[in-house]
Amino acid sequence: MRRSASIAATGAYLPERILTNADLEKMVETSNEWILSRTGIRERRIAAEGETTSDMGARAAQQALDQSGIDPKTIDLIIVATCTPDTAFPSTACYIQAKIGATRAAAFDLQAACSGFLYALVTAEQFIASGAHKTVLVVGAEKLSSIVNWQDRNTCVLFGDGAGAVILQHREGGRGIVSFDLGADGTQTEILSVPAGGCRMPITPEVLKNRSNFLQMAGKEVFRQAVTAMNRSAEDCLEKAGIKPKDLRWIIPHQANSRIIEAVAQRLSVDMEHFYVNLDRYGNTSAACIPICLHELNTAGKLKQGDLLLMVVFGGGLTWAGAVLEW
Ligand code: COA
Repeated sequence: MRRSASIAATGAYLPERILTNADLEKMVETSNEWILSRTGIRERRIAAEGETTSDMGARAAQQALDQSGIDPKTIDLIIVATCTPDTAFPSTACYIQAKIGATRAAAFDLQAACSGFLYALVTAEQFIASGAHKTVLVVGAEKLSSIVNWQDRNTCVLFGDGAGAVILQHREGGRGIVSFDLGADGTQTEILSVPAGGCRMPITPEVLKNRSNFLQMAGKEVFRQAVTAMNRSAEDCLEKAGIKPKDLRWIIPHQANSRIIEAVAQRLSVDMEHFYVNLDRYGNTSAACIPICLHELNTAGKLKQGDLLLMVVFGGGLTWAGAVLEW
């Protein structure tokens, strides 16, 4: 029999430094009015010089451990969702394993861009459901400031740094992840990517000159695909769970653009008050968005046992994912 996997603890870490829209006005040709009206973002956090994805991920994980009193030595597995790893290898998960003293844990990274956290959560759930593992740490952590082209106003205003973490364990009587949907469309890799830096296009003086080692995006097309995929994924998860949108206490959408979220809300006919949104403060932190939202809702006491949540995301790949979770 499958064992349900519930979230036993949450944590988050946001770097101290705040980069406001007014700050960006001094860096590229843009305005607070443009950024706010087109995206809903007011400010974002930027990691300190030398602060890495694993530093942030470990801080978020440590908070989840402290909050729950779970001994790091009881963690069986660490999965880190990130598209901005500390190094190509070893994995960021291995750095985090050492930083939190999870000496017994297996550790690996999972890459599905902005969809990474839900991909990782669903993967983690399989280990608990099968009975193979008792305690799995799932981290979403990103230092997007390291891959953003700070000369490109089309993209640099959108992203921020941060990390979130959850600890999954079996809970008697709880349903945990009720349904999920994972998807990808690898025919559209070029509309959102970092072209250079891998084996396909190694770093050369030419690459550095063209800045193709930084994130590139066809914004309008990504916007269109995001609305379609998130809506489809949300409906798929609801159908598999046998519930209606009105049964949901919270919808936690990918925090990319408030207009994408509003479009999804409209298509699902769900009032915006059921959507949790913090992108005004952090921008798009990619794989870190969902666990940061979960932690904020949890610490604010806005999650009660039995509440149904729908999480739905979209990212480069293209990738998308959704999951219904009973808290
Ligand atoms: N400040 C001022 N003007 C800007 C700007 C900025 N930061 N960024 C772009 N512009 C300009 C463009 O150059 C364009 O000018 P032009 O018409 O002279 O060429 C104009 O604003 C309109 O651009 P457009 O692409 O029509 O804007 P938009 O309404 O589509 O909004 C995005 C742009 C990027 C905010 C929007 O497309 C978006 O959010 N896309 C999805 C991004 C996303 O979610 N990515 C991550 C997915 S995980």
